[in-house]
Amino acid sequence: MAHDLTIVADAEALAREGARRVRASIAEAVRARSRCMLALSGGRTPRALYESLAGPAPGGADATPWARVELFLADERHVPPDHPDSNYRMVREALLSRVGMPAAQVHRVRTEEFDATGAAVAYALDVARAFGLATRQWPRFDLVLLGMGSDGHTASLFPHEPALDEREHVAVATRVIKLQTWRITLTYPVLNNAREVCVLVSGVVKAAALQAVLEAPADPERLPIQGVRPRQGILRWIVDEAAASRLTRIP
Ligand code: 6PG
Repeated sequence: MAHDLTIVADAEALAREGARRVRASIAEAVRARSRCMLALSGGRTPRALYESLAGPAPGGADATPWARVELFLADERHVPPDHPDSNYRMVREALLSRVGMPAAQVHRVRTEEFDATGAAVAYALDVARAFGLATRQWPRFDLVLLGMGSDGHTASLFPHEPALDEREHVAVATRVIKLQTWRITLTYPVLNNAREVCVLVSGVVKAAALQAVLEAPADPERLPIQGVRPRQGILRWIVDEAAASRLTRIP
């Protein structure tokens, strides 16, 4: 696994650099495979990135070929798609409503049709269908964009939760005890089969967790994002100076 850390000045620079990275990954995937299989995360950090991505590419670079992108979510809260907490709603508002991506290429978790477990099963089937997977094959995303919580969680893989041990299914439902909510999440086998994983971390509130994740011995039960290690892919970190402020060495 290749590892890459970029430190940028602040949240605005993070959004710009993240959008540049996503554009580059989409262009590379479309050049090589005529389409890009892209999984996005929710939360607050990536919103500005998605808004930047929806705008014109800087410097008059080629427009992003959205018609060739299949978009998925790395995780979803088990709320209706128009709920304020819905990751899909945030991605729709910040990005999808502004770029012409065919609706059939947007793969959200159909939370309103099923309970959390049913939604996870339906989502895994949708992923398998979109990738044209045979039984027991894992999807290989061109890019998975992740965030990191101040507890070291990523997607909806939270410390000490059973979802961390999932090795059979593409997506699972997980009851996040600390949040008292149900979520649906892609699992480690999917994340670690990606060509590229890019983790965005912003703010001093994440500094202690980022230092532990990057410098302490691996303990994914305690810091789940340490379990994201793409076997045949690259793991990129794009962090701002506030989040990097506790790092004692730059790997
Ligand atoms: C979610 C995300 C989650 C997020 C982290 C960081 O559904 O909330 O997928 O994993 O990336 O919690 O969230 P912030 O960007 O809001 O700090």
